[in-house]
Amino acid sequence: MSKEIRTFKTPEEVAEEAAKRFVQLAQTAIATQNRFSAVLAGGNTPKILHQLLAQTPLKEPVDWRKVHVFFGDERFVPPDDPGSNLLMAKKSLLDHVPIPRENIHPMQTLNISPEQAAQQYEETIKNFFAGANLSFDLVYLGLGEDGHTASLFPNHQAMSYAPDRLVAVVKNSPKPPSVRLTLTYKAINQAKNVIFLATGENKAQAVARALKEADSSHPLPVQSIQPEKGHLLWLLDEAAARCMS
Ligand code: 6PG
Repeated sequence: MSKEIRTFKTPEEVAEEAAKRFVQLAQTAIATQNRFSAVLAGGNTPKILHQLLAQTPLKEPVDWRKVHVFFGDERFVPPDDPGSNLLMAKKSLLDHVPIPRENIHPMQTLNISPEQAAQQYEETIKNFFAGANLSFDLVYLGLGEDGHTASLFPNHQAMSYAPDRLVAVVKNSPKPPSVRLTLTYKAINQAKNVIFLATGENKAQAVARALKEADSSHPLPVQSIQPEKGHLLWLLDEAAARCMS
């Protein structure tokens, strides 16, 4: 794994760098493998990134017909619920770029149980990578103040799911809503590129802990994101980087 940490003055500059990396990685992946698989993060931080990717000039250089979008996690709510990560991604990005509908791979949250949805998404991922190495080209991740990422929370039962699973069900999530679906460490750590986006004073403590050597007895979920053969990039604003030694 290679690791890179970049700090910028503002959340907008962080988002701009994250968007530029998307364009670069998409162009390379499409040139070499004729498609680009990107996993979007949930929460609020990615919104600026999405809006930049949905506008000129960053939108144009991407051949959206060859882009496939997946989700790092999803709240187990209807797709039109204000808390839906799919809805956030549609409003801020997917409804504004010419990505074919069939290239958007949401986690199902309607007329299905969480367990069935997790199993179904696992099959979606395996089918997408059938015959190739199961490795997303890019995974964006956010960071919670408690050191969670995606919906992998500290000391939570999703941490104990079968290690070979790609998608896990999370219940009693400390961050509402209570039921969620999440990619697992296995799915994330096989990626070629993982980009963390963390901005704001409230993330400074979690960032400082995340970038210290993992406490082998109780690593935070964020500290367990170690792409085996991939590149790990932290994009921070100065506020979130404030406590870094
Ligand atoms: C979610 C996210 C979650 C998020 C962090 C940071 O669905 O809630 O996947 O992991 O990335 O909690 O959230 P903010 O970006 O809103 O601070």
